[in-house]
Amino acid sequence: MAQDFKQWLGELKSKCDIVSVMSKYCHLVQKGRSYWTCCPFHIEKTPSLCIYESEQTYHCYGCREHGDVVKFVQKIESCDFMQAVEILAKSVGMEVPNFSITSADGIEKRKKEKDLVLDVLNEAKNHYIANLYKPSAKIAQEYIKKRQLTKKELDDFALGYSADYYSLVNHLKAKGFSYEIMQKAGLVEQGKQGFYDVFAYRLMFPLFNMHNECVGFSARILTQDKTKAKYRNSSNTIVFDKSNTIYGLNLVRQSKRTQAVDRVIIVEGQMDVIAMHKAGFKNTVACLGTAFTEAHARQLKLISNYAVVCLDGDSAGVKACNKVVDILAKEGFNVRAVKLPNGSDPDEFIKKHGIDAMKQQIENAIDYIDFQIDYLATGVDFSKSDEKAKFVRQAIALLDKLGSDSEKQIYLKHIKQLSGVPVDILQQDVFKRNNQTVQEQKFDSQELSIEDGTNRAIKCALASMLYKKEYVNYAFPLKKYLKNNTYIRLYDLIMNKRALGQEYKVSLVYDEFDVDNEPNLIDIINYNFEQNGNNEKYYNECLWNIVEKDLKNRQSELNEQFQKCTSADERKKILLEISNIIKKLKNRVMED
Ligand code: UTP
Ligand code: MN
Repeated sequence: MAQDFKQWLGELKSKCDIVSVMSKYCHLVQKGRSYWTCCPFHIEKTPSLCIYESEQTYHCYGCREHGDVVKFVQKIESCDFMQAVEILAKSVGMEVPNFSITSADGIEKRKKEKDLVLDVLNEAKNHYIANLYKPSAKIAQEYIKKRQLTKKELDDFALGYSADYYSLVNHLKAKGFSYEIMQKAGLVEQGKQGFYDVFAYRLMFPLFNMHNECVGFSARILTQDKTKAKYRNSSNTIVFDKSNTIYGLNLVRQSKRTQAVDRVIIVEGQMDVIAMHKAGFKNTVACLGTAFTEAHARQLKLISNYAVVCLDGDSAGVKACNKVVDILAKEGFNVRAVKLPNGSDPDEFIKKHGIDAMKQQIENAIDYIDFQIDYLATGVDFSKSDEKAKFVRQAIALLDKLGSDSEKQIYLKHIKQLSGVPVDILQQDVFKRNNQTVQEQKFDSQELSIEDGTNRAIKCALASMLYKKEYVNYAFPLKKYLKNNTYIRLYDLIMNKRALGQEYKVSLVYDEFDVDNEPNLIDIINYNFEQNGNNEKYYNECLWNIVEKDLKNRQSELNEQFQKCTSADERKKILLEISNIIKKLKNRVMED
């Protein structure tokens, strides 16, 4: 039963102290009450991973990897949850009982299902590959010739072809897979004539995870049918999440073993990845037509912290590039960007100008801030004062993200070149802006902004509870104000443990929640108490902020009711409540 497993897991975790487990893998240095080590999940020379013994958790301030002891073993041994549990159990001589028969939460079932889904995807991949070389795949073979792909690229990228609607389904059925598993793998859907291959008639690009297992497909249409999307990607499944899949990463990882990778090149399309690899740029990857996120950046950081972004040279590509470089810079990358001429993409560019020209483009990639300044300058008519002024304002605002004035100084020359405004004048603007930003920040911490502020206040309140701060007011009816399900569950968890007089550690949260997919929860676990100055005061301020927001919401609700209300009695009642609220707001009354 689920509860049995959780109990057993609790016992296991109590025997597997995170410090002693991690010391088997990393060199730990004790500083005060915490331990530090160089993070094994990204390359670094000075320790940025901290282990909190009392909470039984770890957190890397470099790559933000964090978790409990099980998560650590999962990561370092590249295995799944149950395998990590087995490793830990073995190390302390505990036997993993067979919960699978009665297991209500179905961990075992889930693992079996996952394995089956991976199996069926692998079988599909092989089927598609075999298809590609059959005479019936003429349209795909011609397309491949047109795109100038050789056998090497076809093999490296495991390209294939979906011949029609039913041959995959029949093949998989004959191999013993159920329709249910095919559907769970995102391969088939049910139509009037039974289950059919959702990728029918497309060129198949398998997608791989870090264990080199096929987890899904991106499939390109081969006809001119404008009513269909050019690429169709697997829907998200138990093994596939489009938003954190990086095309080509498996190959970059492989080539890293034989050849040092000094940087990653990020391009837009998978065809570009293939063309770049063919041209010898074995360090090229792409996202699958989704927005680039911090999660992508973190995965890439395991390869290198130097990135060259080379998206399509058209206006959409350049615009996207602007965002990508910012995310990378924020994640601590050295970032450069390339703007390919005439709106071309890397594939077209190489075909037209050759490999050497592409090499030059990559070598001449420009600093990301310069790239962004150029971007701001596109289309600006510098003979018009208003356009020029707007450019200068925006370009200077761009420099906010730089730490030091000396750094800013470097880019002022570039802004001057474009606008003609002398550097010392620009400098004064930067100086003014610096002061202004400081003031904005002060204002920010004094008065929490309305909507976002309430969420922030709730996070502070919950984090204070989670970390058992001595000033927490447990009588405060926080639950009443929580709307987010995760918050409510966390609140209940803490309060229930308290009521039972049981100890709870932050690592417990990892058992109860899918932490990685709950950004708010990550914020709470990693809550930075230092940012608030006097914590107790800030905490109380937060509680009041929560109440105040709620009262104000109620007030505007009542105001609206009042407008619509026609009965005199009702109106009186509403007015009474409003005046009560106003009193509470004025006197900062927290109770009902
Ligand atoms: P592109 O249209 O630039 O792809 O879209 P491409 O690889 O250069 O395509 P070719 O050269 O015409 O074959 C960039 C990426 O966006 C995703 C794909 O991952 C593609 O590689 N995309 C594009 C989709 O997911 N769906 C679409 O309909 C189109
Ligand atoms: Mn393209």
